[in-house]
Amino acid sequence: MQTRVLGRSGMKVSALCLGTMTFGKEADESASRAIIDRYLAAGGNFIDTADVYNRGTSEEIIGRALGARRDRIVLATKGRLPTSDDVNDQGAGRRHLTRALDASLRRLGTDWIDLYQVHWPDPTVPLDETLSTLDSFVRSGKVRAVGLSNYLGQDLQKAIDLCDRYGWTPVSSHQPQYSLLFREIELDTLPLCQREHIAVLPWSPLGGGVLTGKYANDEVVPEGTRVAAASPKLQANQLSEHNLTVARAVGEVAADIGRSSAQVALNWVLHRPGVTAPILGARSVAQLDDNLAAEGWQLEAAHVERLDRASRKALPYPHDMYRMINR
Ligand SMILES: NC(=O)c1ccc[n+]([C@@H]2O[C@H](COP(=O)([O-])OP(=O)(O)OC[C@H]3O[C@@H](n4cnc5c(N)ncnc54)[C@H](OP(=O)(O)O)[C@@H]3O)[C@@H](O)[C@H]2O)c1
Repeated sequence: MQTRVLGRSGMKVSALCLGTMTFGKEADESASRAIIDRYLAAGGNFIDTADVYNRGTSEEIIGRALGARRDRIVLATKGRLPTSDDVNDQGAGRRHLTRALDASLRRLGTDWIDLYQVHWPDPTVPLDETLSTLDSFVRSGKVRAVGLSNYLGQDLQKAIDLCDRYGWTPVSSHQPQYSLLFREIELDTLPLCQREHIAVLPWSPLGGGVLTGKYANDEVVPEGTRVAAASPKLQANQLSEHNLTVARAVGEVAADIGRSSAQVALNWVLHRPGVTAPILGARSVAQLDDNLAAEGWQLEAAHVERLDRASRKALPYPHDMYRMINR
């Protein structure tokens, strides 16, 4: 599998990262282990998890599955979200992140994390506390590189500047939602990350499965899918007219080139300027196999244009006028 550079971390990662949010939920331990085995056999070296995925089960499964293979993996995890109902078992402050990191190391059965990420911004904690804490993790040898996830552009820029000013470990990566259904980062964090050499690791590149086409042509939501398990409100959002229109356009391109919808949607993300490695989600080896075949080729310009047209939304102010004036 092709590799890409992970920001300024000095590490090289596979262009397709293995996401593990399904481990311990949609995928039981044996299915999860089979997914890891298949991903590694395909040449992948980049695995993403989080302490909150299925209450730590995802990390535990990965720890048991990797064994001696740990050394050749670039292992990424995250902390920040609540891990119990104790008010201090959450947040991006020093107290919680320090405990969260140690708990992740225990569950993953490893002495170090290659990429430790703050899962979501925490407006109750000054950014300098979060960043100096991350820096202390690197200095202690427990973490190799640090990243942020779901941050606003203004906070990401402030984080970059603070690290620069105080000589703290720079931010190596950003993990935002990005797919043909959610292109908002193109307005802000994606160009920022490109300019600052920060790796971009898109989550939900298939829109949680909507872009695989399984919902696009039927009135009935297929049983045993993530969308079927969602609340009616969330389901209505996921299956909005706009989303289904995009999913149908993906299906048309897929039919044109003899690929699956999942491969087309993933290939689009994989080749967006500034993207380092989309994070794959799969509940089975069959889904993973389909998704792994999104790499090693590139959509033609005419198909990219077709997908761009179908997925474009009206620009908010001032982006609309900015584009018009600077055309
Ligand atoms: N930083 C964050 O805040 C954040 C948030 C979310 C996720 N993540 C990370 O990103 C990873 C990927 O997110 P995601 O799971 O939402 O990604 P996704 O690729 O958008 O959705 C994955 C889901 O789509 C369906 N699917 C996948 N491949 C398929 C295929 N070939 N054919 C048919 N259906 C297929 C499966 O659900 P069904 O079988 O149920 O339809 C699968 O669980 C996670 O594992 C996690 O590591 C991070």
